[in-house]
Amino acid sequence: MAQQQGDNLRHARTGIELRPGLDGVPATKSAICDIDGEQGLLTYRGYPMEDLAVNSSFLETAYLLIWGELPTDAQLQAFEHEVQMHRRVSFRVRDMMKCFPASGHPMDALQSSAASLGLFYSRRAIDDPGYIYKAVVRLIAKIPTMVAAFQLIRKGQDPIQPRDDLAYSANFLYMLTEREPDPRAARIFDRCLMLHAEHSLNASTFSARVTASTLTDPYAVIASAVGTLAGPLHGGANEDVLAMLEAVGSPAQAGSFLDEAIAAKRKIMGFGHREYKVKDPRAVILQSLVEEMFNDFGHDDLYDVARAIEEEAMTRLGPKGIYPNVDFYSGLVYRKLGIPRDLFTPVFAIARVAGWLAHWREQLGANRIFRPSQIYSGAPPRRWTPMEKRAESPAD
Ligand code: ACO
Repeated sequence: MAQQQGDNLRHARTGIELRPGLDGVPATKSAICDIDGEQGLLTYRGYPMEDLAVNSSFLETAYLLIWGELPTDAQLQAFEHEVQMHRRVSFRVRDMMKCFPASGHPMDALQSSAASLGLFYSRRAIDDPGYIYKAVVRLIAKIPTMVAAFQLIRKGQDPIQPRDDLAYSANFLYMLTEREPDPRAARIFDRCLMLHAEHSLNASTFSARVTASTLTDPYAVIASAVGTLAGPLHGGANEDVLAMLEAVGSPAQAGSFLDEAIAAKRKIMGFGHREYKVKDPRAVILQSLVEEMFNDFGHDDLYDVARAIEEEAMTRLGPKGIYPNVDFYSGLVYRKLGIPRDLFTPVFAIARVAGWLAHWREQLGANRIFRPSQIYSGAPPRRWTPMEKRAESPAD
């Protein structure tokens, strides 16, 4: 039941106002990640992103996010070892992936393969810490293997097995490109994963928590989050950014491109964020990684286009608090690493699985199923209309 008051929609019983997109509405309590969107600050479990990006590794950061504290040396070694032991995926999963259409989007392939893990490890013992630990390890270990496997399968090749002598990020790049990466490139990629590992209650994490709140298995939780991340307003924007940079073509065109897009009310991909009213701190770090990458491995002219767009956008979008977000520069790093464009969002998922799992655990710790209300805006109660009295609806 609801009533409409002018432009405001309030729930008739509770008086609570509808906020489209739940803008500014707290939907959970969380101790995992904090964002100060006015100052451009991001912390994981209290540690500033800038510190982690320099000093930590992706697996250590994942451990911190999921278990709440930085691991000791022994804990980190044990976690890295467990993850390494679980990198392989069953031949049945690989065979299933061979039946996926090669033209399908890798995010759809990842969502399906992540969900399929629930068939293999289906015991829903979510109150057993041993089960939780194993599920965390399996998902962190196997998601990269499945992303790389689909890339080779769609090229008509057999997936290659993980290499035990390679660390997490280097091994993923090896499985994807069939070449052992330069250690500097692997380290830059590892830092990209840390930057993408968690970001409070964004759309895919909210999706993960809603799914978790039903007490379903963790593979369903991750599959639902992957599906949500795929959209172009969320993780999918990183693909569109590169297409945009290519379409703009040269730095000289940046201003006129922005003028046209803004006049036509088209969004600039890789710009804007619900939380940040300044440049996304992850975009600041990513830009330094782009420069490190180009210093080590050669320049990419699209970076000049990106910088020109950012500069021209300062006066056009800056006053509205719209600045580059995490997706604006990440694609330039991935392109230099030889990662195909439609794998940018799956790579985002490889990182974000850490945050999703942290939220899964946290949700289980104080669970109440999500069940928001709605403002009903449909027809009032009415009587059944017999077929001969029905008129064609305008949509027909
Ligand atoms: N380019 C131009 N204008 C923009 C942009 C943009 N990228 N983003 C927001 N705006 C404008 C809107 O047109 C709107 O203007 P108006 O008030 O004059 O109509 C105003 O800013 C508010 O925009 P909303 O879409 O309502 O903002 P919201 O907080 O709902 O959306 C979002 C945030 C989805 C990130 C949005 O900025 C966007 O679509 N950006 C482009 C896609 C993108 O880069 N997504 C990745 C986000 S980061 C991540 O998910 C990993």
